[in-house]
Amino acid sequence: MAAYPVTDTLGRPLRDLRISVTDRCNFRCVYCMPKEVFGRDFVFMPKDQLLTFEEITRLASIAMAHGVRKIRLTGGEPLLRKDIESLIQMLAALRTPEGERPDLALTTNGTVLAQKARALKAAGLDRVTVSLDSLDDTIFQAMNDVAYPVAKVLHALDAAEEAGLGPVKVNMVVKRGLNDHDILAMARHFRGTPFILRFIEFMDVGSSNGWKMDQVVPSEEVLSRINDVFPVEPLEPNYRGETSQRWKYADGSGEIGVISSVTRAFCSGCTRARLSADGKLFTCLFATTGQDLRALLRGGATDAELADALAALWGARTDRYSELRSASTPPRKKIEMSYIGG
Ligand code: GTP
Ligand code: 5AD
Ligand code: SF4
Ligand code: SF4
Repeated sequence: MAAYPVTDTLGRPLRDLRISVTDRCNFRCVYCMPKEVFGRDFVFMPKDQLLTFEEITRLASIAMAHGVRKIRLTGGEPLLRKDIESLIQMLAALRTPEGERPDLALTTNGTVLAQKARALKAAGLDRVTVSLDSLDDTIFQAMNDVAYPVAKVLHALDAAEEAGLGPVKVNMVVKRGLNDHDILAMARHFRGTPFILRFIEFMDVGSSNGWKMDQVVPSEEVLSRINDVFPVEPLEPNYRGETSQRWKYADGSGEIGVISSVTRAFCSGCTRARLSADGKLFTCLFATTGQDLRALLRGGATDAELADALAALWGARTDRYSELRSASTPPRKKIEMSYIGG
């Protein structure tokens, strides 16, 4: 297969592929899958619509020939997909044109992580990111809306670290008036541990979470609240286009990050493509439509045809939603994060 890295209309290469393996989740986080929308009668994707592991691996392999170096499995909740270890094994066996392994990561709510951590590592997973929005059970349970306790997520974090799935990152979505008074408690708890806590600005992703600008706590404010108690200093990014701005505690107690998609958009370095569980490729988290690669796959396209389709899609990419977002942005029907992957 031809190996030809592609860049989009703004000169951004394709580096990361985020693969959603299921649109289902056992949480109903208020900022992602609110119960009023994702209730009992919500219709999830039928099984035959999901890409098979072979189809996913084939697309990932073609994407790697185009420049992809990092693959992140997302959902919904990716660990709910049956036999996910097999997919990981198949992806871990892929090689870049230079013969290198992809960086293989997974974002999870942690509910089945403790029991799966060792098997995931053995299958070839490099690292995990776990969502945890509060250490206060009342608040965390109000946010996950299925009464899931904090202690079990903390246990999963330890299991992941012990299994060698580090550096383990912890994602906290901050929503004003809901969990913003937990910022310091979270910082205090994870200081001096190997876990990298990241504070994420509540985003207007999807069309069902009722997002309002005044519910966003700007990262500047998060940092200043932390800095008042535990002084922090900036760190260099790990790579160009990193979502998170990294900071370290001045006393050497570890690292934190802020993800400021609302107040400090990072589109200019965005190298991420997203593949939904039913095989649509999206070139932006805020896209309204995706390209149906499953139709090509199941229509008998050759690897060369798939490679051309991907190159054409990425080459025509103009997306920079977060940079253009403004109070005057007209409401539009966006894709849900649980469908497109976080
Ligand atoms: P690593 O740097 O590899 O650890 O991954 P990451 O920074 O991509 O981390 P992760 O996948 O955990 O992303 C963290 C959060 O950042 C996501 O849950 C989203 O809320 C947000 N995010 C990730 N990618 C994008 C993006 O392309 N656009 C926007 N607006 N937000 C994003
Ligand atoms: N705003 C910011 N982050 C979100 N996530 C889901 N919905 C939102 C939102 N509206 C992120 C959470 C979770 C990951 C899967 O997606 O960080 O960790
Ligand atoms: Fe599920 Fe993650 Fe969405 Fe919460 S943020 S509902 S855990 S997919
Ligand atoms: Fe990338 Fe779109 Fe997010 Fe901007 S808004 S960083 S272009 S996914």
